[in-house]
Amino acid sequence: MAKNGQISSSVIKRLPRYYRFLGELKKQGVERISSRELSDMMKLTASQIRQDLNCFGGFGQQGYGYHVDMLHSEIGNILGVDRQFKTIVIGAGNLGRAIATHINFDTRGCELIGIFDRDPALTGMKVGKLEIMHTDELEQFCRKQKPVVAVLCIPKAATQEIADKLVGLGLRSFWNFSHYDLSIDHEDIIVENVHLGDSLLTLTYGTNVLASSEDAKK
Ligand code: NAI
Repeated sequence: MAKNGQISSSVIKRLPRYYRFLGELKKQGVERISSRELSDMMKLTASQIRQDLNCFGGFGQQGYGYHVDMLHSEIGNILGVDRQFKTIVIGAGNLGRAIATHINFDTRGCELIGIFDRDPALTGMKVGKLEIMHTDELEQFCRKQKPVVAVLCIPKAATQEIADKLVGLGLRSFWNFSHYDLSIDHEDIIVENVHLGDSLLTLTYGTNVLASSEDAKK
């Protein structure tokens, strides 16, 4: 198996989607699938799929296709879904609470162990199984529990400072929802910036193209 560092970032971006589709097939009891069938489902070309999956060993067999369960678990291993990296949420407002309760961290390699907010009015409130802690407790908590992943659901202005503090406390991965393009000036830090608004704009672009071509036909 190739190490993640040897797989191109565009292939890595597609792995969660392969993992999700293969997981659905597995649930349906499908044992094997050809690259053609997988390509129809995923709207990728069969050759793209073969190229992608070849990057980490090509688990397909000529005339047999891919063994769904095996490929699903191999991709899961590459993604690290069984690792249970300790994870905390910073910011227990609307978004932080929604993420803490609606995202299934366990099946994605993370274990949610804490949620923090600087607003004392929120301290002690339940979010799922967790109680919101005040950010004054953050340092002691991190030194003891050693989380490595932080989900940032705080306002833009607070983001860099909190991120720097968390890096100092040993956190290495940031799932950043704040509207601040986090670039941490530290080595070995992973940041995944998420902007739902950017995704909506991509949809708006597509809608605009469609609407313009319909207007042109009138
Ligand atoms: P909210 O106002 O409901 O919650 C923000 C929470 O952060 C508050 O409870 C506040 O006390 C807390 N907070 C502020 N500074 C903090 C600090 N230094 N340490 C710990 N907690 C702190 O806002 P909401 O709706 O939950 O949104 C959170 C952030 O996420 C906002 O910046 C918003 O713009 C952004 N957002 C991003 C989206 C995306 O797609 N990336 C989608 C929706 C919101």
